[in-house]
Amino acid sequence: MSKWVNGVVVANTHWTENLFSLRIEADVAPFLPGQYTELAIRREDGSRHSQPYSILSAPTASGSQALEPKAGKTGNPQTLEFFLYTHLEGELSCELSRLKPGDSLEVGAEPAGTLTLSHIKDTATLCLMATGTGVAPFISMIQSDTPWQRFDNVVLVYGVREEADLCYRPLLDSLAEQYPGRFSFVPVISREAVTGALRGRIPALLDSGELEQALGWQLSAENAHIMLCGNPGMVQDSAAVLTDRGFSVHSPEHPGQVSFEAYW
Ligand SMILES: Cc1cc2nc3c(=O)[nH]c(=O)nc-3n(C[C@H](O)[C@H](O)[C@H](O)COP(=O)(O)OP(=O)(O)OC[C@H]3O[C@@H](n4cnc5c(N)ncnc54)[C@H](O)[C@@H]3O)c2cc1C
Ligand SMILES: NC(=O)c1ccc[n+]([C@@H]2O[C@H](COP(=O)([O-])OP(=O)(O)OC[C@H]3O[C@@H](n4cnc5c(N)ncnc54)[C@H](OP(=O)(O)O)[C@@H]3O)[C@@H](O)[C@H]2O)c1
Repeated sequence: MSKWVNGVVVANTHWTENLFSLRIEADVAPFLPGQYTELAIRREDGSRHSQPYSILSAPTASGSQALEPKAGKTGNPQTLEFFLYTHLEGELSCELSRLKPGDSLEVGAEPAGTLTLSHIKDTATLCLMATGTGVAPFISMIQSDTPWQRFDNVVLVYGVREEADLCYRPLLDSLAEQYPGRFSFVPVISREAVTGALRGRIPALLDSGELEQALGWQLSAENAHIMLCGNPGMVQDSAAVLTDRGFSVHSPEHPGQVSFEAYW
């Protein structure tokens, strides 16, 4: 089976100068919420340029609630959504930002990645902490049924530079309505003071206790599993704060209470 399938752009939504969402129809293998696949374009010389991107949409019925994806494609193209940051000099992200409905690109046929809910012990709180586009795998998770079946509470901490970078608010608001009292959304904005959001960086707010004060309860290795995604500095510093507080790093072989994925 080819590593690549053809993808067709259905929509390209620009949120800010640097942030956009791509909807792509492609027949990829079933995936788990939290996984990523590669997006690729061909250069003029025919060479392929690819990078990994987290899938933001929840899996469709064919593979959605499976604990492990089945091998092979579904034979039913599905619409996958991705949330991207375009760096001004970023070769691939700039090309992707210019795609229009009807344009083609290549999509990795087999989504992959270990930032999923598999092998994680059921506990009271699932706490998802992201910066920027690192929120994508978590939006996939909270749009699926799995976290709501397995955890009492789900917390999403979403850190950005400015309020305008805080995307997907209507979707997050609708989840809060769908799961009253079970979903806590904590926006963190570093470069503006905004009412209703914490100001600063996630690791510092975690270390000072301000984040838990906003939540109204303490996160501990006994009552929470924490997932981190996005900026490598945020991931590293938050993991250090948490391991100092008794959390251990999770792997399928050695279950712990902190999982993470750094984007660069
Ligand atoms: C598992 C995984 C999932 C990802 N999911 C997403 C996603 O959902 N959305 C998203 O926007 N991005 C995601 N990324 C990042 C993405 O793969 C690319 O790195 C990003 O789009 C930049 O690619 P580019 O070709 O445009 O830029 P490049 O030309 O590769 O780089 C442009 C600039 O970006 C920075 N940069 C990019 N990659 C690195 C790196 N490895 N180390 C240091 N600096 C780097 C540098 O400042 C560099 O100058 C993910 C990465 C991983 C590993
Ligand atoms: N988003 C991506 O996928 C991506 C991919 C490739 C490259 N980049 C790089 O990221 C830059 C802009 O991306 P962005 O605005 O989406 O994300 P970002 O710079 O990671 O900023 C998002 C949030 O993370 C915070 N942050 C940054 N470094 C941190 C650290 N060490 N510890 C804790 N928090 C930290 C920022 O706070 P501050 O405002 O205090 O910095 C901000 O609130 C570009 O210059 C580009 O090179 C991003």
